[in-house]
Amino acid sequence: LKAETLATIASATDSAALEEVRVAVMGKKGSITALMGDMRNLSPDERKARGATLNAVKTAVEAAIEGRRAELKSIELERRLASERIDVTLAPRPETQGRIHPISQTVDEMVAIFAAMGFTVAEGPDIETDFNNFTALNIPPEHPARQMHDTFYLPPSPEGAARVLRTHTSPVQIRTLLKNKPPIRIIAPGRTYRSDYDQTHTPVFHQIEGLVIGEDIHMGHLKGCILEFCRAFFQIDDLPIRFRPSFFPFTEPSAEVDIGCSRKGGELKLGNHGDWLEIMGSGMVHPKVLENCGIDSTKYQGFAFGMGIERVAMLKYGIPDLRSFFDADLRWLRHYGFVP
Ligand code: PHE
Repeated sequence: LKAETLATIASATDSAALEEVRVAVMGKKGSITALMGDMRNLSPDERKARGATLNAVKTAVEAAIEGRRAELKSIELERRLASERIDVTLAPRPETQGRIHPISQTVDEMVAIFAAMGFTVAEGPDIETDFNNFTALNIPPEHPARQMHDTFYLPPSPEGAARVLRTHTSPVQIRTLLKNKPPIRIIAPGRTYRSDYDQTHTPVFHQIEGLVIGEDIHMGHLKGCILEFCRAFFQIDDLPIRFRPSFFPFTEPSAEVDIGCSRKGGELKLGNHGDWLEIMGSGMVHPKVLENCGIDSTKYQGFAFGMGIERVAMLKYGIPDLRSFFDADLRWLRHYGFVP
């Protein structure tokens, strides 16, 4: 029995098999346990001799099991180390890396330019009151300018205020004028919404608004500010700009800003080439807008401007279709260098 047991112990190939052997020999119904039990029927002398033998066998078996257990443990560790080995010489898997969206990049560039001129960034909500988006900006309910905005109307607020998705960033002018005393110098980039969709219109787009209010701000400041911005943004030192008379209910006088370009053979080039391209609306803030916000228009005046961010990004980067900004097409992003 001893020899046989020791042989099975030595050939046990894992700890589970070894445990089976231990139970078969020394467990409650094990062979040695049974032999020990049989000693009850022996005479005292025989029992003494048999007891000594059995104890010696038991000790030997226990020692063998312990020894084999230690061996198996190190074999199993070796096996695990081998199977879990990492080949550090393998080439890494390629990883795709996120990038800032071109619109956000353009906003960042713009904010940096205006920040250098002393502007701070103001914000307003996308869901705006009809009052802030229109009425306070001198666009009363029946004003024809409302039609031109293709407004998304929303259910009224819990307090009963008529609400819209803001059609421009100009309501941030109102929020700023209501909350702050002049001097004021802010820009407000953000999402805007109009119900329109074609190659040059998407229902969601972005604008950046500018507002400067002080005691002696005049149109020369507007021109200087816009000229400096355009030359820095388009990175053309002698880029010409032109102020063309226009109309907005919230500015008087109003002007649209054009930058110099050429469009020979359908190809657009920015710079001093004799042709013009419209890029933003602007003007001196209408006294009524200031009064609507509780600001004394005999003491304070200023200018405002608003431009489409996608529009100028398309010009700067030569992007033909506005809708591609919202397609999340990696080939497109790569083509314009927005992704490596
Ligand atoms: N809010 C005007 C638009 O969306 C642009 C504008 C802003 C014009 C500020 C004048 C002054 O068309």
